[in-house]
Amino acid sequence: MNYEEFKSQVMVLTGINLSAYKENQMKRRIDAIIKKNQCNNYLEYSRLLKVNPVSLQEFVTYLTINVTEFFRNPSQWDILEKQIFPLLLQKKRTIKIWSAACSTGDEPYSLAMVLSKFMPLSQISIIATDIDKEVLEKAKQGQYITRSIANVPKEFQDKFFTEDNGIYTIKSNLKDCITFKQHNLLKDPYPANMDLIVCRNVLIYFTEDAKKEIYTNFNKALIDDGILFVGSTEQIIMCQEYGFESYKIFFYQKAGLKR
Ligand SMILES: C[S@@+](CC[C@H](N)C(=O)[O-])C[C@H]1O[C@@H](n2cnc3c(N)ncnc32)[C@H](O)[C@@H]1O
Repeated sequence: MNYEEFKSQVMVLTGINLSAYKENQMKRRIDAIIKKNQCNNYLEYSRLLKVNPVSLQEFVTYLTINVTEFFRNPSQWDILEKQIFPLLLQKKRTIKIWSAACSTGDEPYSLAMVLSKFMPLSQISIIATDIDKEVLEKAKQGQYITRSIANVPKEFQDKFFTEDNGIYTIKSNLKDCITFKQHNLLKDPYPANMDLIVCRNVLIYFTEDAKKEIYTNFNKALIDDGILFVGSTEQIIMCQEYGFESYKIFFYQKAGLKR
């Protein structure tokens, strides 16, 4: 079995289209997990994936790289709080937010905490999605170790977490602000009428063609003047081609009708 055939098998077994991910990086990672599972080649490993659901889930989690933390890149969260939320809330009292590729939930919970400075928790509603079911389960549980919450301001730690033996658990009033759902950015329909889409540190793994398709879909999913917040190595070259204007570094605004 060659890599092309292995990719087809993965598509059948997981719905993940490996052709949309950068090939060299992906092949290196797959070779490493094949070795770790003491298989000799794609064929042996694909047989293992077919018969063993635990290995299959381990493969998906390994492939998708779930590294995340609360308030990742704090200075960008400062811009979000001081400039982006006030901008989006100029004309309306509530906003629709999508945290796409949210991993274990650190990002959508961070969003809800900041937004709580602007409105009661009962008015906050964030959709948070990821392709990986296992991280979504962790996100719903909302339990974190000290390291992941290092950037959470003290006032938020006191307000929104309970601590027990070094495990920090999100309080249910904050959990209730977020709906977690499985969603594949390369395949599933996108939600509509979003005011803010936060999609950080995932597009770096995709090919240029896949990125183009995703930017176009994000643009359609936003309302006019809505904002897309990207990761710190993910500036969009020629953002106008996808209907965006650069608003601040790492924040892109959907060009509205009035422009
Ligand atoms: C490095 S994490 C980024 C988490 C968070 N956004 C952050 O910046 O801290 C990348 C996430 O993208 C998810 N992912 C990878 N491919 C995806 C796809 N095709 N659709 C949706 N999520 C995907 C992974 O499961 C992983 O949780």
